[in-house]
Amino acid sequence: MNEYNHIDVRPFGANAGAEVRGIDITSPLEKEVVREIKTAWQAHLVLLFRDQNLEPQQHMTFAQYFGEPQKAGFVPTLKEFPFIRHQEFNKNPGEKISKIGGVNLLWHHDDSFWKVPSKGSILHGIDVPDVGGDTLFVSMIAAYDALSSEMKSMVDNLTCYHDLTFFIQDTIIEEMGMQALERIKKENPPVEHPLVVVQPKTGKKALYVDEMHVSKIKGMHPEESKCLLEFLSQHTSKPEFQCRIRWSNNTVIMWDNLCVKHRGVHDFGTAHREMQRIALVGEHSPKAP
Ligand code: SIN
Repeated sequence: MNEYNHIDVRPFGANAGAEVRGIDITSPLEKEVVREIKTAWQAHLVLLFRDQNLEPQQHMTFAQYFGEPQKAGFVPTLKEFPFIRHQEFNKNPGEKISKIGGVNLLWHHDDSFWKVPSKGSILHGIDVPDVGGDTLFVSMIAAYDALSSEMKSMVDNLTCYHDLTFFIQDTIIEEMGMQALERIKKENPPVEHPLVVVQPKTGKKALYVDEMHVSKIKGMHPEESKCLLEFLSQHTSKPEFQCRIRWSNNTVIMWDNLCVKHRGVHDFGTAHREMQRIALVGEHSPKAP
């Protein structure tokens, strides 16, 4: 039975990713349409909408059907819309790219360094390269399911430290100075999250670990932690668990931030790439099985 009466949902990845056709998300949406989008989002984790000429206010309205927009940390935002994060590469020819702005180009879960991370994000491609600059997503549910039962029973009981400054410490010092690093560290002390989390609505288990924020596995010797994190990084980055978004201007994607990790691909040279993103406030800390 087709569970969708108002939208046309076309999966493009075996484990994550579906295109939603047949709706205009710049207009107000009926309750039933929103319910169907939520169902598709839960099932496919990453949804793609093409040709949506979203103005910032329409972006806010669309996001609010799914949750409360999250205040940005120290990343740039639109001047009149402090909840819309602004990501831009190669604004002016030859301009030095901020490496801090470039950290999205490494696997991560958004805001996992907070006790209650965002539950999802809605990203709008404003001006994207003709070639390159895709975004990759991994179903961390599929990655968990593919582990042996022995490995599952080990990781089920582990906890990780997530640290905002783990990967970008040197870059913060280089671009913002030592005092800024100290301030950011003080405002964002590392937090603990289970390595395996449960999707609250479906009860499915997902790996909650990434390369950008996870500094160590709690209780393990540093070399044990390093070894297991390296294995998990390789395992979760397999193409079998991924889907890939090819952007065009006015493509909008939304993703489940608990059960997917994601990254941009920095293969677009000097081409302009401009995105606007709203993150949604999480409802609670990630829960262990
Ligand atoms: C993000 O991490 O928010 C977006 C990834 C991208 O820039 O493609």
